[in-house]
Amino acid sequence: MNIHEVNGKHESVQNFCELGKDAQELINAAIEARKFSYSPYSKFKVGAAIRVGDGSIISGCNVENAAYSPSICAERTAACKAISTGHSEFKAAAVVAFQQDSFTTPCGVCRQVLSEFAKEDIPIYVAKPSPVRVLVTSIKSLLPHSFVPLPTD
Ligand code: THU
Repeated sequence: MNIHEVNGKHESVQNFCELGKDAQELINAAIEARKFSYSPYSKFKVGAAIRVGDGSIISGCNVENAAYSPSICAERTAACKAISTGHSEFKAAAVVAFQQDSFTTPCGVCRQVLSEFAKEDIPIYVAKPSPVRVLVTSIKSLLPHSFVPLPTD
């Protein structure tokens, strides 16, 4: 394991094969979901997967639209699938996309959405489709000082 500072925060870049089985499974689910990406406009395919409270995995891909603004990121597709099927506790998430020279981390809006359903700091795995190297970070590292969920009954 190669822990070092990434962008001034304590995150790590690890080899896929060094990760635990659960993390590998989550990343593989995001890789599979990415295959369904509907992204004819950006041509940028993204897959995401969320480990929810009961241990199951719910995945999603980005879905774009000709009118552009109705497009939704992979992370929020997965989050909406989870919430709308009764899974409101997120334990970990993985995001898979391909940028040659950098990791594709979740956008700001997706960070806020993931944060809403993470009771504590949860790991976020950021990988490429052939995930030799994986950025292992966390929701609080990605979004410190998030707007906190309002009390619900
Ligand atoms: N996208 C995601 O699905 N997740 C991210 O974390 C970053 C961006 C999508 C949105 C759009 O369909 C495409 O990638 C290009 O921005």
